Amino acid sequence: MKKQINLKTYFIYFGILLLSVSCQRDSDDDFKGIDQPDETIRVDDLSALPTAFNFPNNNTFSNDKFELGQALFWDPILSGNRDVACATCHHPDFGYADGREISLGVNGVGIGPNRQGGNLIERNAPTILNTAFNGIDVDRNYNPNSAPMFWDNRANSLEEQALLPILNHDEMKGDVIAEGDIINVITQRINAIPAYQNMFAAAFGNTTVNGNRIAQALATFQRTLVANNSRFDQYMRGDMDALSNQEIQGMNTFIDAGCVNCHSGPMLSDYELHTLSVPDHPLVSDDGANGNFNFRTPTLRNLNRTAPYMHNGSFDNLRQVLNFYRDISRGNGDSQNPNVDNNQIDQDARNLRLNNNDINEIISFLNTLDDDDFDKTIPQNVPSGLTVGGNIN
Ligand code: HEC
Ligand code: HEC
Repeated sequence: MKKQINLKTYFIYFGILLLSVSCQRDSDDDFKGIDQPDETIRVDDLSALPTAFNFPNNNTFSNDKFELGQALFWDPILSGNRDVACATCHHPDFGYADGREISLGVNGVGIGPNRQGGNLIERNAPTILNTAFNGIDVDRNYNPNSAPMFWDNRANSLEEQALLPILNHDEMKGDVIAEGDIINVITQRINAIPAYQNMFAAAFGNTTVNGNRIAQALATFQRTLVANNSRFDQYMRGDMDALSNQEIQGMNTFIDAGCVNCHSGPMLSDYELHTLSVPDHPLVSDDGANGNFNFRTPTLRNLNRTAPYMHNGSFDNLRQVLNFYRDISRGNGDSQNPNVDNNQIDQDARNLRLNNNDINEIISFLNTLDDDDFDKTIPQNVPSGLTVGGNIN
């Protein structure tokens, strides 16, 4: 049994002691960011996000690189038919996701749930908020050069991820240009635009445009999209008034029920793959990372902005997610996907302990993980002169 913790009580007894111990334990030796106050406390396996974040040594931050990355992120010039930008599916109005069950790519029109027409993408678009911290463990160690990306962890680092949507037929590439040519085509297009030449020179020292530089600039921009000051973070950094008693109770229930066995660390994710038996989407049966219907534990931050949930958007709201967990737990129910046997379901999910009251408490805790204070800038225009964000209007 995990112990019940009320930090308010904890602090009366151990306040100063706990703070000083945690300062020593939380080694930030490999931390390259700036100004890292280290008063974060850890309850079991949960803790605040760091207040600053690491850039990899081989792709350090500069404002010029950020501005280039932002322009590229919003510019549909990166897509074969010049109709889709990264922001088409990762838009600040939808918490840098797209608010859809599964995404629609090339040839689509509109944004979010109203988007129509485009090629079907088999998965739900995750938020890119806080991907700077992907892979962070309970001790707040993480390595931006190997940060796991995608529902199946198949890319490592924002840099490695960045060109994959551009190469993908349905997401951005489309029919006209061959996969082997698309990066050459877009570098030539970008090269022909003086404003981009200047931006590449400012960011990288000369005007050479290549896939590696595009990836580095996109990664730099995305890394800055951080929301690390939720009320949960404030509480874990020592502001005992940031959470209500009910929300603290919800956190304890989240821990006691067993959610924390997978949703751990500052991102509320172990970044491991697990089989749960989420129902298939009516249009797609997705068997996950290695045919076992297993998917990465997602972050639980900013869920208020990123519905619908799961790798295929199966659940519209948190209550449906929690009912699902109740229904797969031993004693309460069975697999919710006919392709998954009960004994394939991860033991930590089978062992969850949930009743209806627990569900209400846990939802009140999950709502404390929301932070509205992130960069929502939508540029007025992009250097290509194309429609900002692609065909989203
Ligand atoms: C058509 C919609 C669409 C477009 C356009 C798109 N994405 Fe995505 N993005 C997705 C989907 C869907 C996933 C999940 C795919 C998977 O897990 O297999 C994803 C995943 C990601 C992730 C992984 C996040 C995580 O935590 O694992 C990052 C980062 C990302 N996209 C960045 C980008 C960038 C950069 C671009 C532009 C170059 C882009 N996306 C274009 C839909 C899109
Ligand atoms: C065995 C590990 C495991 C346990 C235990 C677990 N989860 Fe999950 N959680 C996952 C995985 C993996 C996914 C993604 C599954 C998918 O998309 O198919 C997920 C998805 C979610 C989502 C959807 C997030 C999103 O952005 O789509 C929420 C919310 C969630 N879990 C909350 C909880 C709560 C609350 C508990 C405790 C009652 C819990 N989880 C227990 C592994 C786990």
